[in-house]
Amino acid sequence: MHVVHTIAALREVLAGTPGASFVPTMGNLHDGHLALVRLAKRQGGPVVVSVFVNRLQFAPHEDFERYPRTLERDCELLRQVGCNVVFAPDERELYPTPQRYTMQPDPDLADILEGQFRPGFFTGVCTVVAKLFQCVQPRVAVFGKKDYQQLMIVRRMVEQFAMPITIVAGETERSHNGLALSSRNAYLSSDEQARAVQLSACLREVRAGLAAGVVAIDALEAQALQRLRQGGWLPDYLTVRRQHDLLPPLAGDLGASVPLVVLAAARLGQTRLIDNLEF
Ligand code: PAF
Repeated sequence: MHVVHTIAALREVLAGTPGASFVPTMGNLHDGHLALVRLAKRQGGPVVVSVFVNRLQFAPHEDFERYPRTLERDCELLRQVGCNVVFAPDERELYPTPQRYTMQPDPDLADILEGQFRPGFFTGVCTVVAKLFQCVQPRVAVFGKKDYQQLMIVRRMVEQFAMPITIVAGETERSHNGLALSSRNAYLSSDEQARAVQLSACLREVRAGLAAGVVAIDALEAQALQRLRQGGWLPDYLTVRRQHDLLPPLAGDLGASVPLVVLAAARLGQTRLIDNLEF
């Protein structure tokens, strides 16, 4: 496995190889990332994983400084799952001059849900992803469904700019009690870890309510939000949306079995977690 830190070195190791399968990450890897790497391996070509904590997608009050940087351990895990190239640039390499050109995602998709609570987040994500795509020039890129809105926005970016890249979605990996794996779970105290399962439990309840024929989506959402608050969470949102455009379902959508997703973001202590379930 090659570990490279510059764009020039990356291009050198990839020269003459078939199109790569690429997994962008911010490091501090867990089994969720490793599942994405295994999925990337099944797409063929060399597997490239980037490890880069992208300042552009953090607001000044967010956790950019304390985001765990664990490159050595990440490389060890990536070696074990058969990654071929780790691209771990530092900030001076990826942003040698201030990044004045940015990638503005469709506001209809990017200013809702996460974008409402983290203004500018998806501009930061799209800018770094577009730049990483330029560096790696992959044939396939793998993104996790855990970051559902991100996946959708990246797909739309690739379509709109006719980037010759196939986006493949990886399922969310969960611990035995349903908690979605996330690098930010490491911030939770042991008491918070035990309570963190409530987030996915609330999503399952909403899904079960709709499967049982409840049509009052607002009431299901309000009930789940209430349950989270009672459990000590500060929810930003918990909402049922249509999978294809992330807008609230219309009255006819339920009868027409339009694919839906319930998405949530909530803070437990100092830690903000997101999760979603498709149905
Ligand atoms: O999902 C993430 O870890 C990040 O948003 C990504 C895609 C690596 C861009 O920094």
